[in-house]
Amino acid sequence: MNEVNKELKDYIRINIFPKYDKFYAHGMLHINNVINNMMMLADYYNLNRNMAYVIACYHDSGLSVDRDNHELASGKILAEDKELQKYFTKEEINIMKEAVEDHRGSRKTRPRNFYGECISDSDRDFDIPTLAKRQINTTLKNYPDIRTFDAHFERCYNYICGRINKSGVFNLWTNNPILVERRDKYQKDYLNKEYTRKIYKEAWDQAEKDGTIDKILNYYEDY
Ligand SMILES: [Fe+2]
Ligand SMILES: [Fe+2]
Repeated sequence: MNEVNKELKDYIRINIFPKYDKFYAHGMLHINNVINNMMMLADYYNLNRNMAYVIACYHDSGLSVDRDNHELASGKILAEDKELQKYFTKEEINIMKEAVEDHRGSRKTRPRNFYGECISDSDRDFDIPTLAKRQINTTLKNYPDIRTFDAHFERCYNYICGRINKSGVFNLWTNNPILVERRDKYQKDYLNKEYTRKIYKEAWDQAEKDGTIDKILNYYEDY
């Protein structure tokens, strides 16, 4: 397993990660999870680790430019980044661009290349504590009438259970066994309402205490 190129990592830390500063649900909490998932898949399938890393780091960067078509905007940021030409061929940059453009989990057609399948699958939160944190942002930004924990939790719980029950399972393009196992455990745990409620409550209380709720309402820009 080769490490990711150190200079490339430094470049991204200094020039790309700040693009996520004003985001919460799509901020570094999310990006770091996606990086971990993507690097796990890169090891599993013996992919180019530098490419996997770049795809994960850039995949939501376009949110700062165009929220509705952020996949395309992210692909553009990646494809136009001259620094990447030091590390990758034109073909590799094109593969990474297509992967980023195809990452949205709700898409119905298969991503054009395997890196696209991996980033789309890596973008999922099969982790209740992470989802609980990210959904505080979704509720506060999109439901101005909901400002109490109980109403927030009921909204989130109904939404996620609806998705679990409707599709049976969250789609995974790769069907990677590690992700499949994680997904199945996540779905099973989620349906235990008392257990899930406890995790959401901890996330809400923490966000209230450390000022995150305030920051979501007054600083962060993502929805
Ligand atoms: Fe995205
Ligand atoms: Fe994402």
